[in-house]
Amino acid sequence: MASSSRGQFTSRFGFIMAAAGSAVGLGNVWGFPTQAASNGGAVFLFVYLAMVFLLAFPMLVAELTIGRYGQSNPISSFKSVWPKGKAGAILLGVVGLIVVSLILAFYAIVAGWLIGSFFGSGLTLIGMDSASHWLTSFGTERNLVLMVSFMAITMYVVRSGVADGIEKWSTRLMPLLFVLFALLTVYIFTQEGSMEGLKMYLIPDFSHFTPSLIVGAMGQAFFSLSLGVCVMTTYGSYLKKDTNIPKTAAQVALIDTGVAFIAGLVILPAMFVAKNHGVEIFSESGELLNSDTLVFTVLPAMFDTMGSVGAIIGIVFFLLMIIAALTSSISMLEVPVSCATEELNQNRNTAVLWIGGLVTIASGVIVMNFSSLFVLVIQFTTVYSQPIIALLITLLAGWIWNRNQVLNELKEGYPEIESSWFWKIWPTYVRFVCPVLMLLVFFA
Ligand code: PHE
Repeated sequence: MASSSRGQFTSRFGFIMAAAGSAVGLGNVWGFPTQAASNGGAVFLFVYLAMVFLLAFPMLVAELTIGRYGQSNPISSFKSVWPKGKAGAILLGVVGLIVVSLILAFYAIVAGWLIGSFFGSGLTLIGMDSASHWLTSFGTERNLVLMVSFMAITMYVVRSGVADGIEKWSTRLMPLLFVLFALLTVYIFTQEGSMEGLKMYLIPDFSHFTPSLIVGAMGQAFFSLSLGVCVMTTYGSYLKKDTNIPKTAAQVALIDTGVAFIAGLVILPAMFVAKNHGVEIFSESGELLNSDTLVFTVLPAMFDTMGSVGAIIGIVFFLLMIIAALTSSISMLEVPVSCATEELNQNRNTAVLWIGGLVTIASGVIVMNFSSLFVLVIQFTTVYSQPIIALLITLLAGWIWNRNQVLNELKEGYPEIESSWFWKIWPTYVRFVCPVLMLLVFFA
């Protein structure tokens, strides 16, 4: 078995940065504020918080625990908790790794745009406007070049393995992300118009409270915590046995939710600051203009109106988005790579090269057929596949996996767990409440 030479996170801090790095991504800085802005601000925020607490957190514990018990890639981890269901375990793992690769394929395109906007802002600053224009205007060639660059960086990090690649880069980049975010938040509140955005964000407008808002918030919570695609199962398998899983999971969920909340605090006020500068953000009917306009058009337009300070703020903002995207994309690529190194006995370099290559090709196909494929792939992976796989993993943890084994696994890092409130609630909760809630929301 390759497991004796498996990588491991070297510290709990390293793990938290890596797992929070996976969780904090475009979902937080782009998806969440956009959804909040188009769904009644505060109402979306409250439903989202409920979804994280009621559904996503218990599921995160389940995924991490399965991974750490299995001490292996998702395929064999599922096998180890599903004694009589080898074929089912393999199928679940394979579907998970395909879905996560497809997520990476579209994610790399968006992350590429961020790289474009980042260098675009820089080039504007030194007066190279035409180069900047090429980098920031939609075009197949530009999309391809930027996507391939992002995939290359992702592959570079994953090639170095768990401790020297993923953990090292996450512990460097995540604190930087927090600092940049803090700076941006302070800055935006010194600007005129920001209070209007703050009001929209914190004072609920209940007319938006609809079933589709709840489904949206659930999907957003799963996506944001990287659930349902075996990422957390894989990261859990690199977690030391003496780590307290419920506590660590709670910290990861808290960081992720905190960053989403702060992203809303920056972006919603920023919209109104932009509006104050004459940038159009709402359509005639009062609807928010196209969601991608928000980050890629509205914000840069606002930065533009602020002269060279604006260009610098723009650079900081896009750097922050690139960091968030990179610590997520490496976690996605790690899933198929861990399967290839352990199930097919390949070395890491080879696995990263061919799997990264395939994802890049898939992503290229999406770029070439952008109008028909882009939204379709996003919908297929995040709206349908992720919640369904997440549901299957909950059923695995709640019904199929032997309860004593679950308990013993959790006890390794939390010896007094049996007398804790967590253990009184969680097993029954994962068994009944999570699947029922998910089905209800899904069929709503
Ligand atoms: N959680 C990441 C984000 O919010 C996206 C992601 C999804 C990462 C699935 C890994 C797996 O952007």
